[in-house]
Amino acid sequence: MCGIIGYNGKENAIPIVISGLKNLEYRGYDSSGIAYFINKKIKIIKEKGRIKNLEENLTNDISNLCIGHTRWATHGKPSKINSHPHHVNHITIVHNGIIENYNILKEDLIKKGYEFKSETDTEVACALIDYLYTKTKDKLQTLNELKNYLKGSYALLILFDDDIDTLYAIRKGSPLIVAESETGNFVASDIPAILDYTKKYYLLEEDEFAVIKSDNIVFYKDGKEITKELLTFEHDIKSAKKDGYSHFMLKEIHEQPVVIKNFLDYYLNNMNLIPDLSHYKKIHIVACGSAYHAGLIATFLIEKYGDMEVSTFVASEYRYKKNFINSDTVVILISQSGETADTIASLRLAKEFNAHTIGIVNVVGSTIAREASEVIYINAGCEIAVATTKAYTLQVLALSLFAFKLGIVKKNISQEEQSNIIKEYQKLPLEIEKVLKVNYKEYAKKIYKHKSVFFIGRLIDYCICEEGSLKLKEISYIHSETYPAGELKHGTISLIEENTPVIAVVTDKNIADKTVSNIKEVKARGAYTLVLKNKNLKLDKEIYNDIIEISDLKDLALAILAIVPLQMIAFEVANMLGYDIDKPRNLAKSVTVE
Ligand code: AGP
Ligand code: GLU
Repeated sequence: MCGIIGYNGKENAIPIVISGLKNLEYRGYDSSGIAYFINKKIKIIKEKGRIKNLEENLTNDISNLCIGHTRWATHGKPSKINSHPHHVNHITIVHNGIIENYNILKEDLIKKGYEFKSETDTEVACALIDYLYTKTKDKLQTLNELKNYLKGSYALLILFDDDIDTLYAIRKGSPLIVAESETGNFVASDIPAILDYTKKYYLLEEDEFAVIKSDNIVFYKDGKEITKELLTFEHDIKSAKKDGYSHFMLKEIHEQPVVIKNFLDYYLNNMNLIPDLSHYKKIHIVACGSAYHAGLIATFLIEKYGDMEVSTFVASEYRYKKNFINSDTVVILISQSGETADTIASLRLAKEFNAHTIGIVNVVGSTIAREASEVIYINAGCEIAVATTKAYTLQVLALSLFAFKLGIVKKNISQEEQSNIIKEYQKLPLEIEKVLKVNYKEYAKKIYKHKSVFFIGRLIDYCICEEGSLKLKEISYIHSETYPAGELKHGTISLIEENTPVIAVVTDKNIADKTVSNIKEVKARGAYTLVLKNKNLKLDKEIYNDIIEISDLKDLALAILAIVPLQMIAFEVANMLGYDIDKPRNLAKSVTVE
């Protein structure tokens, strides 16, 4: 998703904004730009591609007020003319989000004499602001009226040609934080943009806007001045740096033992804080991408230990399908960023139908965290790599504790079993450390030149495969598919050729024999089989080319451990291919648009 940063203060704003944009690169983008006043005139520099393309066009200008943007195109291809900032008459803006009614607005503004150079919805928003301000000559009224015209999502930074000392910021549906430091004030999409300068920030909330001078900040809601709580970013600044690792993804994979230990230490001693799902008749789990895969695992565990049926949905489907949500439904929304547009929309739909909503979120104060009936923070710390790892495993662990609690409440887990399960949870950090000691380059070498890789597993192993496959696709760009192992022979097995890599996950002893039969089927057709299994499972050597063994924990804990080798294989494959692992092409860390 795009990155936004603005600075207004005593320092030269241009280098501060450029470095802030670099700290937001992990969010994914295709072009970038900045705008500032020089000799009382607006100056815009913008380029397609990486920020270095923008830097090549910078001059020695000095300005105390500057806004910057990295664009993730939604309306109009990645190009210089479509990149931000956009300028119309007296107004300059950068935007994160989608203006859903931009076509109608554009037609109306053209009738009013406006001309457009770009294909973007953003330029339309810019012209609208110019039109409203020309009509009212009142900036606060203009900002306050925006919500009556713009449909969709927007985080906007706005500069007015006749007010070169002030930066305006407004948000609806896309995140913005406002921050203060000794030298000046900031506004940005996310914390890492400002961490080099301050840890003190305000969360701009729905329909609020801020008027940011170099030495003070005033907040407004519905046109009235409001006061807001000043927050402090709790994690250390290192968590937004690589700490000696080659990539953020590798660092975050290796942080899993610690963040999982911290999470367990807290919640195993505060199980009363884990929601009791037995109060509800229906359980819906809604998420996107890896968070959805965590939901698939939760479905298996909650149904097994809680004796309750669970329905799990991709958020972009849930928000449009016929729904059966009511006050007897609990809707669990899983989201690392807490800003995923489809998941937010699903949350709001669930609330509309009086469901109880639970957010499982990483980013403190994010939209989902604030709007859900209750929130469980996974406390993964800053996750910079676009491909999630530590946040995913903590999402699975949080949901595993939901299942564990439900099993206890419904007396499906005896006292003795409870203490055994707790002991297995507590083994997780060490078991992950052990798994991280394996040299995964050996396996990556046999995979990285292939065009397609298949993952197979059954039940919870199938769910683990879904996440392993996405990790590989996301960062290595190798096509990969996951199949319930029993489903392969209903068509896809026709794609298996000599040496086609098939990664089989076999941790569930109760279904292992069936999965072994499916491994034999692909092996018989020449596949290269890499089997990930729990060490107590005995397998005939002729069914696999390579094997990775992990400790035989109970599924409530094993579901977290089993993904780590697949994260590492994906990392090593992408590394061999030399791709930009932390910022994969076309991807964004938080998809704040539909
Ligand atoms: C996972 O590696 C991807 N970056 C992506 O699938 C991600 O999980 C998805 O976009 C959901 O993001 P969220 O958890 O912030 O809602
Ligand atoms: N919708 C706007 C555009 O396509 C903004 C996209 C973004 O959030 O970067 O330019």
